This record gives sequence, C-alpha cells and structure tokens, in this order.
Amino acid sequence: MSQTTQSNLPPTTAVKPPRLGRLPFWLVGIAIVAAVASWLPLVLIARGRVVHSNEPAVMFMQDMYAQPKYREQQATELFKDGRAMRPRVEGTVPHGMLDDDDHYFRGWTATVSNGKTEVSFFDKFPPRVNVTDALLKRGQERFGIYCAACHGLDGYGNGPVNARAKELKQGTWTPPSSLHDATVRGRSVGHIYNTISVGIRNMPAYGGQIPAADRWAIVAYVRALQLSQNAPENLVPQDNKAH
Ligand code: HEC
Repeated sequence: MSQTTQSNLPPTTAVKPPRLGRLPFWLVGIAIVAAVASWLPLVLIARGRVVHSNEPAVMFMQDMYAQPKYREQQATELFKDGRAMRPRVEGTVPHGMLDDDDHYFRGWTATVSNGKTEVSFFDKFPPRVNVTDALLKRGQERFGIYCAACHGLDGYGNGPVNARAKELKQGTWTPPSSLHDATVRGRSVGHIYNTISVGIRNMPAYGGQIPAADRWAIVAYVRALQLSQNAPENLVPQDNKAH
C-alpha cells in the first residue's frame, strides 16, 4: 500500500552540487587565446609609439598623405643631370608676373632703330602711381629704412655708413652722392627709379628688397626732398622770403 502511495508522488529531483560543471577543455582554450589576442592591438600601438620606421604609415584613409614623390635634393635617374629638383626653365614667367609695363617696372624703355638700341628714361610718374600725401609719407618712411643709412635723412650723402667709412680711412670708399647735386636733381624720375632697382656704379641694387610701388614712393619722396633744398623762388610763400 505504502509503495503505491509512494509511486503516486512526483519523483524527487536529486539536489545538484552548488557549482557549475567544468567547462569543456576547448572552450577554455579559446577563451585563453582570445584574452591574449585582445592585448595584441595595445602591444602594437605601444610598439608603434617607440619604434621608428621609414616605411609610410599604415592608414585606413590614405588621402594622399603618403605619396611617391621626390624630396628636396634627392637624385633621380629620370633626368640626365640626376637632379630631382629642376631649375626654372629659362624665360618662364609666373602667372600674373610678366611685368610688361616698362614705365612702371623699369622706369625706362628701349627702342631699336637702324639696329641701334636707344634707351630712354621716363620723366613722368607712371599713370598707375598717384602722387599723394600718403605716397610721400610712405616714401619718407621707406627712404628712412633703405636709403638714409648712406645718403643721410637730409639726402646730402652723410648717413651713418658714410660717417663710419670716413672714420675708418680705408681709402676705398666711394661716398654716396648728395641727392641735391645738380646732376642728381637733373635726373628723370625713371632714372632714379632705375637707380634704386638695379643700383648705379658703386651703389648696390635695392630692387630685390623694395617692391615697385615702394620704389615709386621713394622716388616721389626724393623729389620732395630735393625741392625742400632747392625750391625755386616763385614756390616760396611770400611770408617765408628773406627780405
Ligand atoms: C650702401 C649705401 C647706399 C644705400 C643704402 C643707398 N645708396 Fe644711393 N648711392 C650710394 C653710393 C655710394 C652712390 C654713388 C655711387 C658712385 O658714384 O659710384 C649712390 C648714388 C645714388 C644716386 C645718384 C645716382 C646718379 O644718378 O648719379 C641716387 C639718386 C641714389 N643713390 C639714390 C638712392 C636711394 C633712393 C636709395 C634708397 C632706396 C639709396 N640710394 C640707397 C650708396 C647707397
């Protein structure tokens, strides 16, 4: 009887031990390999930060960062002279820099007649140069920077460079011209402009340092300076005339 009662009860479940069973060996293996592999990028980054390489960097987006090209002073077999850096082809002019306005960029023009070249200096300011107060101020400032060291602030040719050269008494010094000499006063504006651009006799060229617009400003100022020392009588206001 008791047996019948027992068999009617649901079968008792065996109490499981309170721990998971052992993981299968292959799963443990994969987990270890994955854990070790997950450190690999970090190791590679750390290595990348300390190791130097001449190879182009590995990049997902190249964006032309690494490109096959010659660096300065490198050699190439492409050209006969072996130089990768090419000299400028003679006669080429950068875009917009033809400087074909003789009046503005040279101050003189050359005409050929009967096989003879005639050079004539312009005696007027180029049309694009407006002689204004502002231009004279600019010229005065530039004159103080570039010319006064030799020619003096007053233009008489006794700037500090001349004073020092005379002190040294080396005998080889050519003194800077006085800008108030009759010869220099008689020069056309184009001639003075050309003197600044390419130099004259012992005076060096300043064309490489002073842009054309500033050279014209200096010329205008030199004219004003000359006038200040040799003004014709009719330009002197009545009040200022010595009686
Ligand atoms: C390094 C010194 C020096 C500087 C700077 C200098 N000059 Fe001269 N300049 C000379 C000398 C020297 C002469 C005379 C050259 C000779 O006779 O051999 C001269 C001559 C001249 C003449 C007379 C040229 C002629 O027609 O006979 C003018 C004009 C002139 N300079 C203008 C300038 C102007 C403008 C500047 C500034 C942009 C300037 N110079 C900067 C040294 C200088």
